Amino acid sequence: MSEESITLTDNRSGKSVTVPIEHGVFSSQGVRELDPGLFFYDPAFKSTASCSSSITDLDGVNGILRFRGYPIEQLAEKSTFLEVAYLLINGELPTPAQYEEWVHHVTYHTYIHENTADFIKGFRYDAHPMGMLVSVVAALSTFYPESKQIHDPQIRMIQAIRLIAKMPTMAAFAYRHSVGLPREYPVNHLTYTGNFLRMMWNVADPNYEPNPVLAKALDLLFILHADHEQNCSTTTMRTVGSAGADPFISVAAAASALYGPLHGGANEKVIRMLHEIGDVKNVAAYVDKVKKGELKLQGFGHRVYKNYDPRARIIKKTADDVFAVTGTNPLLEIALKLEEVALSDDYFIERKLYPNVDFYSGLIYEAMGFPMDMFTVLFAIGRTPGWLAHWLELVQDPEQKIYRPRQAYIGPDKRDYVPIDQR
Ligand code: SDX
Repeated sequence: MSEESITLTDNRSGKSVTVPIEHGVFSSQGVRELDPGLFFYDPAFKSTASCSSSITDLDGVNGILRFRGYPIEQLAEKSTFLEVAYLLINGELPTPAQYEEWVHHVTYHTYIHENTADFIKGFRYDAHPMGMLVSVVAALSTFYPESKQIHDPQIRMIQAIRLIAKMPTMAAFAYRHSVGLPREYPVNHLTYTGNFLRMMWNVADPNYEPNPVLAKALDLLFILHADHEQNCSTTTMRTVGSAGADPFISVAAAASALYGPLHGGANEKVIRMLHEIGDVKNVAAYVDKVKKGELKLQGFGHRVYKNYDPRARIIKKTADDVFAVTGTNPLLEIALKLEEVALSDDYFIERKLYPNVDFYSGLIYEAMGFPMDMFTVLFAIGRTPGWLAHWLELVQDPEQKIYRPRQAYIGPDKRDYVPIDQR
């Protein structure tokens, strides 16, 4: 039993229970010994640990983020997105042979069934690509019915590889549809992000080669987005997965949550906000509106980070490399001024509101030529290994059962039906 513990006393019965504190949490099971009908009331799970996990360690007070113990700063500097995907899913960094095999598998699973690719034709030209992505990912589950065998390790792993491999293809196909361009299919000699950039931008050039600086920057951005503990979309992945659903449907659900403007949709809203501000001289007036509660400062604040999001710091540095190739994004000046004003204003300091991962990522995406409605799609590509790592961990966790929280019922007491002619 852990040295640290909490003792709770129910003053209705005088009974007490001492519950050990381990890994920064104490179990509700102990508390329910006091009264099985007693539940924690925790709307939005602000104080709830829904599972135990060894994937990502997040310290919001000190701004620390580690994947399987490795600091995000080191992975961003020294690793690749596919290596980080391997690490998240398998728990260890790959040997050279393991990495070579992993990259081969991902490279050779980038195609999607032509029928699913053709689904995209059914969308209007101006359909939001996240709506297309969620739909096509869900449709993929019908092409791999064996993926429902979630307790078969080999079957689980091949589906994980398929999803990591196919997300960029589906994303690029959705974009090509929105601009009326024919699909550009994956090729096998390029890197993961190089292949994606070619599928996005190549038009009629058989020798197209992506800019290596931009491919590397996108690879780093995908690393930074790869996982983030029990965020809204990952909790959705776990919730749907806990019902025994296959990984395709679970990823479609997770991507649906990510689509929300409070979550992954924020990177698109940051750029719209910066365009709306339009000029550095309008920053102070905009901040005043935020302080009056009329607006949220997009890309600021976080449920867990009450310090600078370490990912935002890394992205800000990466921006310089990208802008050296693309030319700077004129919105950068407004973003820097907005950050400077907010970080020195008590309203934001008191609320511990700092730039999060979404504040700068959109500036880079826009400079790279991505339309704003593709930003959350890029977030989804990056987050897919994290969603899958959590799904794999959940499926193998003996403590996990179907998610079924309770509630505090505050509705009317028993009452009898009144026929409509008597109401
Ligand atoms: C992501 O969970 C994750 O890990 C998510 C993510 C990941 O990698 O998966 O990190 C990705 O989703 C990043 C967040 C992207 N969203 C945005 O940038 C949208 C703008 N941010 C806010 O909507 C908000 O900060 C949230 C949604 C991110 C967090 O919401 P919380 O937990 O409700 O915020 P809070 O309780 O800490 O807020 C404290 C106070 C409140 O004011 P009061 O009621 O106390 O007066 O700060 C205010 C909030 O209203 N506040 C903001 C604000 N964020 C919080 N005020 C103005 N602008 C903001 N951005």
